Amino acid sequence: MGLRWLWRHRASALLAALLIFLLLTLLATHSLQNNRTHELRPTSDRRSQRKAAEKHTPIPHQPAKHTPTARAERRRRAQVPVVFLKTHRTGSSTVQNILFRLGERESATFAFPHRTYQFNYPDRFRVAFVDELPEASSQFDLLCSHMRLDLPQVRKVMPENTVFITLLRDPIETFESVFRYHTSTVPAFLSARRAAASEGKPALKAFLDSPETFWDPKEPGNGLAKNPMSFDMGLNNQKWNGSWPEDLAQLEEAFHLVMIAEHFDESLVLLGALLGLEHEDLAYLRLNARAKNSVTELDENMRAKVRSWNVLDTLLYDFFAQVFWEKAGQFGLDRLKAEAEKLRESTERIRRRCVSRESVPPAELEDLLRPRQTESVTVVGFEVRGNLSLQDQGFCVRMMLPELQYHSHLYFKQYGRDMRAAPAD
Ligand SMILES: *[C@@H]1O[C@H](CO)[C@@H](O)[C@H](O)[C@H]1NC(C)=O
Ligand SMILES: *[C@@H]1O[C@H](CO)[C@@H](O)[C@H](O)[C@H]1NC(C)=O
Ligand SMILES: *[C@@H]1O[C@H](CO)[C@@H](O)[C@H](O)[C@H]1NC(C)=O
Repeated sequence: MGLRWLWRHRASALLAALLIFLLLTLLATHSLQNNRTHELRPTSDRRSQRKAAEKHTPIPHQPAKHTPTARAERRRRAQVPVVFLKTHRTGSSTVQNILFRLGERESATFAFPHRTYQFNYPDRFRVAFVDELPEASSQFDLLCSHMRLDLPQVRKVMPENTVFITLLRDPIETFESVFRYHTSTVPAFLSARRAAASEGKPALKAFLDSPETFWDPKEPGNGLAKNPMSFDMGLNNQKWNGSWPEDLAQLEEAFHLVMIAEHFDESLVLLGALLGLEHEDLAYLRLNARAKNSVTELDENMRAKVRSWNVLDTLLYDFFAQVFWEKAGQFGLDRLKAEAEKLRESTERIRRRCVSRESVPPAELEDLLRPRQTESVTVVGFEVRGNLSLQDQGFCVRMMLPELQYHSHLYFKQYGRDMRAAPAD
């Protein structure tokens, strides 16, 4: 049986090969189909689990948007995946809440950490920190849980057309808040507090008088102790070196919008324009805010010390504030001002409709609406009006739902299982 024989019978050989191929394909398809029906069962189980989830979480249903056209537009909008880098103590819980509502309404798939609410912070973000892609989803649409940024790793998780956003705040205000909120979790702050207690002065003052005595740069838990915003953005937060400007330029290129907390409404208008959101989608309540007695008043001397300790955050903030105003200029300053004013009005209207009491101490809040407290601060919340229609209640409760509660609600909806219990601090 040489080549010549094969050549002579080439037609039959081809046919035979084709037959064998067809048979194999049929067999494979059949076994695949078997496997698929096998896999379908757990999915439908999951669906009933999800129904159970909605019963299990005492959050009223979210009102659907009314008109079919609105819904169709929303679906189109959902094609833009979003990463929100949630920086510490900048007002980011408020932005996260807006994105949580958006994602829930659009049934977006969230890139969540494994059964918890942050990506192994303060480690740099890694793909392995992300929980599995749900079977029914083809991609992650939203990532907005706490992390320390690592751009190439985040890019591996999210689709190519992802929009990157974050929020920065005046570095002095930010550091004061980070210090107060995290006094008992950041080792440098904790040792300052111990020293301060023996000297009878405020912990922040003790820290600022000689930060280097309390700050061990090798201690991984000290990420927030110096230039916390630079740390969250994945920059070298310890000292300036030749790579810093280049790293900053990379961030500028990566981020479509860096919001500025001091111009929050204007920032939201730009966010709305970027993501195609209406004013009602952008209405907000200031979440995770401290009680007045949990805020340290800073005199000029202390402000100067905070600034010089956090000089990289000052560089970062000033840089992105400039970028922000360039974007604002492209949008049109007059238009931005007018839109921000309209947003304030609609937010105010919604706030009056939803909230019966603001700055409510935690002891007076029901569990669902009580924000997480830390050992060193009191975090206040909101009381929802009692006489709302079920639809309004669903909308209003979501707007004031603290991060942990909303996070675990969405996690349960997505996976049909609970997150781990929240950490104590
Ligand atoms: C189908 O499932 C069985 C059992 O889980 C597995 O051994 C087999 O390799 C699967 N077949 C295909 C084509 O995936
Ligand atoms: C700057 O610091 C970063 C982080 O410590 C390091 O990776 C980088 O090589 C340094 N660059 C220069 C030019 O020293
Ligand atoms: C609910 O109560 C508030 C205050 O008592 C009142 O102003 C508001 O009109 C009421 N809303 C509805 C829908 O009844």
